[in-house]
Amino acid sequence: MNLSLNLLPPRLRPLARAGVPLAPLTTFRIGGAAALLVEPASLRDVSDLLAACRASGVPLFVLGGGSNLLVSDEGVPGVVVSLARLKKIQVIGSHVIAQAGANLATLVTRCSQAGVAGPQALAGIPGTVGGALAMNAGGRHGEIADWVERVIWVNPRGELESLYREEIAFGYRSSTLREGVVVEAWLHGGVGEPAELAARARTILQEKLAAQPYSEFSAGCAFQNPKGMSAGRLIDLAGCKGLGVGGAQVSTMHGNFIVNTGSATASQVLELMRVVQERVQAAHGVRLEPEVRIWPACAPAA
Ligand code: FAD
Ligand code: EPU
Repeated sequence: MNLSLNLLPPRLRPLARAGVPLAPLTTFRIGGAAALLVEPASLRDVSDLLAACRASGVPLFVLGGGSNLLVSDEGVPGVVVSLARLKKIQVIGSHVIAQAGANLATLVTRCSQAGVAGPQALAGIPGTVGGALAMNAGGRHGEIADWVERVIWVNPRGELESLYREEIAFGYRSSTLREGVVVEAWLHGGVGEPAELAARARTILQEKLAAQPYSEFSAGCAFQNPKGMSAGRLIDLAGCKGLGVGGAQVSTMHGNFIVNTGSATASQVLELMRVVQERVQAAHGVRLEPEVRIWPACAPAA
């Protein structure tokens, strides 16, 4: 799909590029190009961009670190907004103000250095602060919602708005923030000793490195855990580890990771997800639901 830069207000055009390959911007290293990729430099740019997309009826896709994304081989027929330029982090006492494009790992390190306890639980999770809020990223040690005070976002009506924690519905790997564009977050933690907090973050990172295929291209867990169960364990027990379709393979290290061995396409990953769903359904009678976000939206079984 070709989109003209003219759909943007003149002020935003220098921040936009057409036909940008998205694969290098994702941890899966898979997918086609964005019709337009825009990198706003201010909160106002984000709201102006949303207004322009709404006015022209062009779909908008929000890109963080691309660590939970499967982009289709045909690419994305719309505007992709990347918050990579908005990455400031400020710590004031036990409060942290982070822009959405800030790296989550940097946030964890800054919290440890400043003695802010809590977000160390997120050590080892790739991506940005905005993506972590949109996905309510976390694991067995906690999830980002646990430390949210308020969030500044551009809401689906295109208005810059401040939301208190109580106004946001966070669920397991989901939040209502996915309906708009998060631009800034205010987090609040406890008080800790910097050296101890850094050690805790290191331990949690080591735990993840020992269990998950970090040296390979993936988008993290492919499926959500069904209530009270581990999708990885169900996939493992169903004999799917090592199963492949083209360059896509079920990790031999952790059953819930699909890895790109180098040449995988999005359609191969989707086909492999469908096969895994089928085998797990046959073996355990459980339907696995994707955790990875698929652009543009489609079901593996479609
Ligand atoms: P992206 O992948 O870019 O986007 C994910 C979704 O968030 C998309 O729907 C996107 O539109 C939306 N989004 C992104 N930014 C914004 C924004 N500013 N405003 C609104 N919506 C936005 N996840 C866990 O929860 N726990 C883990 O332990 C974990 N381990 C992982 C390990 C590996 C090796 C990998 C590759 C991934 C792992 N993940 C894990 C998945 C992923 O890192 C998280 O979901 C992460 O929070 C996604 O952030 P991101 O910035 O990369 O978002
Ligand atoms: N297991 C197996 N075989 C496997 C994988 C796991 O038997 O191939 C077993 C493990 O031995 C363990 C149990 O299943 O007894 C749970 O496994 P693990 O501790 O790896 O946790 P998980 O439930 O698979 C969840 C999150 C991860 C997060 C970890 C640690 C989901 C879908 N996954 O994994 O998050 O890092 O806990 O907190 O919620 C992600 O969301 O992308 C992600 C990686």
